Amino acid sequence: IADNSDKVADYVASYTIQRINDFGPTKERPFVLGLPTGSTPLKTYQRLIQAFREGRVSFKHVVTFNMDEYVGLPRDHPESYHSFMKNNLFSFIDVPQENINILNGNAPDLLAECQRFEDKIVAYGGIDLFLGGIGSDGHIAFNEPGSSLASRTRVKSLNQETIAANARFFDNDISKVPTMALTVGVGTIMDARTVVIIATGAGKAPAVAQCVEGSVSHAFPVTQLQHHRSMVLCVDEDATLDL
Ligand code: GLP
Repeated sequence: IADNSDKVADYVASYTIQRINDFGPTKERPFVLGLPTGSTPLKTYQRLIQAFREGRVSFKHVVTFNMDEYVGLPRDHPESYHSFMKNNLFSFIDVPQENINILNGNAPDLLAECQRFEDKIVAYGGIDLFLGGIGSDGHIAFNEPGSSLASRTRVKSLNQETIAANARFFDNDISKVPTMALTVGVGTIMDARTVVIIATGAGKAPAVAQCVEGSVSHAFPVTQLQHHRSMVLCVDEDATLDL
């Protein structure tokens, strides 16, 4: 628990940098990093960019896997997760293009695309560190309430709460928000060696309380992480209000 969202981002960025540097990645043995979108990780990304500019970390031998992507949104749409990652992180660091993995929500065969993604994670030996946020309804990535806690990367329809929450990115027009997404599964996230979940602000307090104190249930998928052997929940004071 840190005082505010700036301090949370300081911690998550330093932790990520330390993990990468301690690992000492090479071309043959890259560090595999899972990444989220959303407003929560933005401050962390700014600090990672800063650290790269100051020579404190390199992403040359880091391979990234993003958690999710909307279905049917053109890749260059400003709200696609491809655009988000490019505009908020990838354009400013030295991660090679071929090391970046983001699900293709426009693939002709979405099921094959999900399988390809899972296979690629396995081919890299699994995810070393997965960063994530929490949806106010307890979703992680786009694993909405009701998701199997053993789920793998798949197509998921978004629930009304998530669509409404994300309307702010689509001119506050619910009809413009995609209704489906590709997402890593809860099981995919559970397989990562370490998972770091970030939640900041009073709006996330009920979700944080469920995540920490609620029963493990598919009604609130992030609770499954209580079973993870190495999960770090990074929150600010405001997000602890309901604990
Ligand atoms: C989206 C993303 C999630 C993210 C959530 C919370 O639904 N798919 O990965 O955790 O939003 O977003 P925010 O950080 O903006 O609250």
